[in-house]
Amino acid sequence: MSYVLIIGAKSDIAKATAREYAKNGYDLYLAGRNISELEVFAQDIVTRTQKEVKLVELDILDYASHQSFYNNLEEEPLGVISAVGYLGEQEKAQSDFTEAQKIMDTNYTGVVSLFNIIADDFEKRRSGFMVGISSVAGDRGRKSNYIYGSAKAALTAYLSGLRNRLYESQVHVLTVKPGFVATKMTEEMDLPEKLTAQPEEVALEIYKAQQSAKNVLYTKWIWKWVMLIIRNIPEFQFKKMSI
Ligand SMILES: NC(=O)c1ccc[n+]([C@@H]2O[C@H](COP(=O)([O-])OP(=O)(O)OC[C@H]3O[C@@H](n4cnc5c(N)ncnc54)[C@H](OP(=O)(O)O)[C@@H]3O)[C@@H](O)[C@H]2O)c1
Repeated sequence: MSYVLIIGAKSDIAKATAREYAKNGYDLYLAGRNISELEVFAQDIVTRTQKEVKLVELDILDYASHQSFYNNLEEEPLGVISAVGYLGEQEKAQSDFTEAQKIMDTNYTGVVSLFNIIADDFEKRRSGFMVGISSVAGDRGRKSNYIYGSAKAALTAYLSGLRNRLYESQVHVLTVKPGFVATKMTEEMDLPEKLTAQPEEVALEIYKAQQSAKNVLYTKWIWKWVMLIIRNIPEFQFKKMSI
């Protein structure tokens, strides 16, 4: 058996990624809140691919449960992919710290809590892969979403350090930085078509990047160049802009 653990599995990107890995011969642990909602989805994967799919309950904010969550998996996963995320409301988060904290903890603290546990195990086993979905929003803070962006920036830095730490143990860490993706998270936004990926495209790119041990994936690829430009706008100009 070759299990991949996908956390935040109810996310549209995670679901497309689950299909991609099952299609390529992997069994799956799908973990998230109220995960029984994925029963029909899981059964559909089993029917199409004859791979095993197990659903496991996980709240990324319930840090105290993370060690037993991981210990209770019957099979040791070959790899883990995190699609957990919460965009939240920037304006609300500016004046309501509960919202700010939820954004920071969902996108960063919770993932760190679980990834620390898994990293220790993979390091001991000297094998495995870890994929974290961060965001281009972490490349530069903007007034429209800088609390979310700062949590993703922290996640990006964490994944970079983790990759550096685990290199010697042959454990590979992939940082995924999507630009716009057409999912539940963005359904209320008017996204530019040329810059917006479908979850299935992102899933295929994650699979290929992980298999080829790429370090950082911008998806769509054009975001690598968009963000290069955005990162290089001088601060005295950037602070006056609304992008
Ligand atoms: N869509 C985009 O344009 C875009 C761009 C850049 C980066 N991203 C990142 O891509 C990843 C996937 O996002 P998506 O677009 O597919 O959005 P999504 O469907 O909203 O996925 C977010 C997932 O995180 C889960 N989650 C939130 N809080 C959780 C908690 N306390 N415990 C466990 N799971 C929790 C949600 O579970 P519930 O279903 O239970 O709420 C949901 O399945 C996220 O990390 C997001 O930040 C997305």
